[in-house]
Amino acid sequence: MGLFTKDIKTMDDLLVHGIQDIYYAEQQIAKALPQMIELATNRDLSSGLKNHLEETHKQIQRLEQVFSKLGQQPKGATCPAIDGIIKEANSTAGEIDDKAVLDAAIVASCQAVEHYEICRYGTLIAWAQSAGHDEIVRLLTTNLNEEHAANTKLNTVALRKGVNTKASAA
Ligand SMILES: [Fe+2]
Ligand SMILES: [Fe+2]
Repeated sequence: MGLFTKDIKTMDDLLVHGIQDIYYAEQQIAKALPQMIELATNRDLSSGLKNHLEETHKQIQRLEQVFSKLGQQPKGATCPAIDGIIKEANSTAGEIDDKAVLDAAIVASCQAVEHYEICRYGTLIAWAQSAGHDEIVRLLTTNLNEEHAANTKLNTVALRKGVNTKASAA
C-alpha cells in the first residue's frame, strides 16, 4: 500500500488486503511457535502448540487457495498488530525464570494470538460472504474453526491441566 496513493478502492481490494494481512500474520505465527514450544514445560501445552503449528502450516496453504480464487499471487502485507503481539510475548518470556510461571505466560500470549486471528477471520468471512465468495468463506471458516479450537485447548491447559495452579504455587 502506498503512502501517498489510496490503493484500496473497493470492498474486493479491502478483502485482498485483509487476506494479505492474515497471510503475513500466519507466517509470523509459524515462525514464533517453535520457540514457544521449546520454552513450554507442561506436556499438554507443548503438544497442543505443536499440533497448532502443523495446523498453521495448513492454514497458510488454505490462504494460498484463497489468493488463487481471487486471481491474486500470494503476498503478505506487514501487520504491525501481530508483530506487536509476538514482540510482547517474547519480551515477557525473556523476563521469566520460573518454568511454571513461564507456562502461564505462554498460554496468555498464545491466547492473545488466537483472539487476534479469530477477530480477523470473522471479519474476512463476513466480507467474503457479502461478495458471494462461497468457496473462500469455506476455506476461511476452516481456519477460524481451528483458531477457536486452539483457544479452547489453551483454556483447558490453563484451567484444568494444572498450568495456572502450578504457576500460582511458584
Ligand atoms: Fe492461524
Ligand atoms: Fe492460531
